[in-house]
Amino acid sequence: MTGEGSVRAATLTDHVAEYEQDIERVLITDEEIQGKLRELGDRITEDYRGRDLVLVGVLKGAFVMMADLSRHIRLPIQFDFMAISSYGAATKTSGVVRILKDLDHEIEGRDVLVVEDIVDSGLTLQYLLRNLEARKPASLEVVALLMKTEVDQVPVTIKYPGFEIPPEFVVGYGLDYAERYRNLPFIGTLKSQVYETLVE
Ligand code: IMP
Ligand code: MG
Repeated sequence: MTGEGSVRAATLTDHVAEYEQDIERVLITDEEIQGKLRELGDRITEDYRGRDLVLVGVLKGAFVMMADLSRHIRLPIQFDFMAISSYGAATKTSGVVRILKDLDHEIEGRDVLVVEDIVDSGLTLQYLLRNLEARKPASLEVVALLMKTEVDQVPVTIKYPGFEIPPEFVVGYGLDYAERYRNLPFIGTLKSQVYETLVE
């Protein structure tokens, strides 16, 4: 979300004083994120009642969202995680996806909901969905907190979308740059000098 959601960084980044000087602006506040997750959690609760729901988090970025979202899903659910290689310290997807950690459990015949932090090109998700589909789940859907607009995207269906954001690199709420900023409670952009000085 942009526009009315934008707040000057100085009023919010005191959460991590060391990061304050790196944040350019806040795109989505903590309160906006929590409100959206409550909405999505309510929908998921209705849609999956009486089914066999497994949340599959895409590490590492989705771990913060998964913790908050799952507490708005008022059903018995199970958790599993996959880790996939993405950018390293760079800010563009290479299109090459590698599984670093696979699921711990079988998903055949189960209702799988993939929890993804952000969809940029969609390549990561497309790869993941094909891979999971081959394991014959009863159903396979996606909940994603952020979707970048105005970028080249492969078609992926996101049943539970959170916010659309402009094609900028963002950090916070699980998302990193060079493994930093994941614990910021909001989604924000970085000042350009951060990219020039930080390497993984
Ligand atoms: P995609 O394959 O281009 O859709 O990229 C998806 C993955 O790249 C996400 O799961 C993130 O790990 C990472 N990513 C994409 N955009 C951003 C961003 O703006 N900030 C941090 N990570 C991002
Ligand atoms: Mg990710």
